[in-house]
Amino acid sequence: MSSTRGSFGSKLGIILAAAGSAVGLGNIWRFPTQAGENGGSAFILVYLLCVICLGLPLMLAECVIGRHSRANTGSAFMVLAPNTNWKWLGRFSVLAAFLILSYYNVVAGWTLAYLYEAVTGTFIELAGTMTPGGANPFSVNFMEFVSDPLKPILFLVIFMLITHVIIMRGVEKGIEKSAKIFMPALFIIVVVLAISALTMPGAKQGLYFLFHPDFSAINSKVILSALGQCFFSLSLGMGCLCTYASYFRKDANLPKTAITVGCMDTFVAIMAGIIIFPAVFSVPGMEPGQGPSLVFIALPNIFNSALSDSPILAWLVPVLFYLLLVFATITSTISLHEVITAFISETFGPSRHKAAVMVSVSTILLGCVCSLSMGPLGDFKIADMVIFDFFDFFTAKIMLPIAAAFFALFVGWKLKIRPLWVELTSHGLVKFKGLRLFLFAVRFVVPVLILLVFLSELNII
Ligand code: PHE
Repeated sequence: MSSTRGSFGSKLGIILAAAGSAVGLGNIWRFPTQAGENGGSAFILVYLLCVICLGLPLMLAECVIGRHSRANTGSAFMVLAPNTNWKWLGRFSVLAAFLILSYYNVVAGWTLAYLYEAVTGTFIELAGTMTPGGANPFSVNFMEFVSDPLKPILFLVIFMLITHVIIMRGVEKGIEKSAKIFMPALFIIVVVLAISALTMPGAKQGLYFLFHPDFSAINSKVILSALGQCFFSLSLGMGCLCTYASYFRKDANLPKTAITVGCMDTFVAIMAGIIIFPAVFSVPGMEPGQGPSLVFIALPNIFNSALSDSPILAWLVPVLFYLLLVFATITSTISLHEVITAFISETFGPSRHKAAVMVSVSTILLGCVCSLSMGPLGDFKIADMVIFDFFDFFTAKIMLPIAAAFFALFVGWKLKIRPLWVELTSHGLVKFKGLRLFLFAVRFVVPVLILLVFLSELNII
């Protein structure tokens, strides 16, 4: 199998592709609000601790499994622990990736649609229809768009086709090359937007909201939400890093890769806050919201009002912001697609081409169902949630924590020390002093922390 598998061509490509998988909507629409509402820099400190105690060991665990097995996530455990039930863990992760891709794609389509609206100046037109006391045109625009039976589907199909084309080009020419374009572009946009946000009138108030250190706001619920955020933001548990690591070269330094990816992910999350809050506080009466309502309703409105003095900036800032979202999202959809494509092609034998078509078609179909669940299929509910929300809940809150905990347990208790050592030191090429600490983390700390997040997400504690 290994002779026909692709591989990354450079260390920079490895880091950018792995960071691309991690940096996504979670950094931009979830992290800033959580930080602002839960104690500012005190929350950021707790978050950093979570990245160190849970994120890094788990990223390393996934890297070790992927590179040592040289197999896709679904087959890795069959290579490392043949004829055991561990094989189900790999398949479970692939299933999680499949379900996540299906609904993540819907939001991916929204980002593309909003980029289109920003470019064509729709937000400026909408702002012109604003009447005091009337319905918020930005909110009406969003609601009409997501519940439309056709438009969101059109954009999700376009987004998936772009992802598909990149996956078809293979690991080095597709995934790596695109990461080398999208990620630097993303970092440049982040810095440009942050600088322009800092010149807005609400900059001081926005930065205060994001960074004020309020340690009294930190309680067990906040710590658990920081853990959950770290987990989602680093894309842990669905085998993205594991699959990518199976394409890493022998000399790639795994601990360094994990640390760099963790830092880049956190950097983008904090910068997103620096972009969003100065704008929010520049418009009187605006409240920082969270999730889709922040990114698709409040922000287009806010950018417009805050920048109304300069028509060029009022057009350019939203364009750059939605371009940032598209870049952040596409590098994540690519990594999810690759997990499933590699599994199907290497396990069941179809060519990579055919496997990629199967994945794209099936996730588009499931994506359509998720999208329609916000419109015509809105009455169909599972556990009192529309299908889109159910997918989100079931994957992010149930499947991922379970998979991630078992990844840690596998590396901590099942994998022998020798392969672990070989991978952590890249066959003796790099120094690694933290083996005991790493083992302690994957054997005890990570599974216990995940159990706590899991129980709290389900409101059991
Ligand atoms: N890590 C991504 C984010 O921060 C979310 C994601 C989850 C991406 C799963 C890919 C797979 O938004």
